[in-house]
Amino acid sequence: MVVADSPFLGACRRLPTDRVPVWFMRQAGRSLPEYRAARGQGSILDVIRSPELAAELTLQPVRRLGVDAAILFSDIVVPAAAIGFGVDVEQGRGPVIADPFRGAEDLRRLRRFDPEADTPYVLETVRILAEELGSQGIPLIGFAGGPFTVASYLVEGGPSRNYIHTKTLMRADPGLWARLLDALADMALASLRSQVGAGASAVQLFDSWVGTLSAGDYERFVLPATRKVLEGLADLDVPRIHFGVGTGELLGLMASAGAEVVGVDWRVPLDEARRRIGPSCAVQGNLDPVTCLAPWEVVEAEAREALARGGGLGHIFNLGHGVLPETDPATLERLVELVHGAPTAEGPPTAEGPPTAEGPPADGPGPDGCSPEEAEQ
Ligand code: CP3
Repeated sequence: MVVADSPFLGACRRLPTDRVPVWFMRQAGRSLPEYRAARGQGSILDVIRSPELAAELTLQPVRRLGVDAAILFSDIVVPAAAIGFGVDVEQGRGPVIADPFRGAEDLRRLRRFDPEADTPYVLETVRILAEELGSQGIPLIGFAGGPFTVASYLVEGGPSRNYIHTKTLMRADPGLWARLLDALADMALASLRSQVGAGASAVQLFDSWVGTLSAGDYERFVLPATRKVLEGLADLDVPRIHFGVGTGELLGLMASAGAEVVGVDWRVPLDEARRRIGPSCAVQGNLDPVTCLAPWEVVEAEAREALARGGGLGHIFNLGHGVLPETDPATLERLVELVHGAPTAEGPPTAEGPPTAEGPPADGPGPDGCSPEEAEQ
């Protein structure tokens, strides 16, 4: 099979596919014994700077799990680290910044990101993978961090619960905030364009922590930058996936930002998510990652529920967030088998949305609906 005909790319475009495609966010990583064996002790950023190793870590879950897509082994803070912002990633904690972004003078530290010069190792990894996966007909997903999520690390200096510095900067100095997000949008856009140029077949924008905002704040403080990233990819003709956690109240707005696929976490069932997103986007999700730690019968029942509510057509099965390190890879293997054995929907989605186990769910598109120009197709 050629990559272009893969079930994953078909489902992103809401085309009929012979199976529901499945991959897992954070499918590479500590849940896999072969990852722990190959990774070594250094910083994850050093691993990412080693193309052969990063490519191997990307391929491990594809081999073991039989997923329908690979996701590049990299991290959302790689571009900021590469331009010298002073970012490290602590194991068990996440990105940390010794000297966080707190004022206008810090804008100077966010110089323009040039992927070819600043992260040649990422592009080399993508090239290795595109060749290796291309021969197997498996698409490679490139990715970048969404402007809010990357800003939250740069401003807080590390992972955060309440985003005190970030939200205070946003409200106290909206002009500076807009310039920060615009710079981070340029960075994400350059990174994603370069990954596609090197051979990635789809891209995902991880705005993981944006669910901490109200819809009003999201629309005012984040959406313009996110649109800039997604619309800046439109000419490349690769599916764009837009994902965040805890975004139930934001789904309609996120769908209006320009992606083909909206990622949904476990808090909103997929049929309800489709109502909020509108008929012109595919959905990706949404099993609770913690469910994977439960007995198989529970995993199976919840996965079948997600499949039924997802409606088959234009559904990419995934977790609602990343694989937890405690997950038994055997559970993920069984999940892939289960999803691949599930029925797919027939025919194109209707204006009412695709069928679900509970009958037609939708009473029309969500508040915005992405790619509205495609809505009548
Ligand atoms: O299969 C894959 O998804 C691997 C590629 C990948 C990594 N990070 C590698 C990684 C991807 C897609 C990411 C994205 C990422 N990084 C996000 C968005 C996705 C999400 O989870 O919401 C975020 C918020 C980050 C920032 C970050 N980097 C965190 C929160 C952590 C975890 C810290 C920890 O150790 O638990 C990291 C480190 C990181 N990035 C690891 C991996 C595999 C951890 C493992 C290690 O150090 O070996």
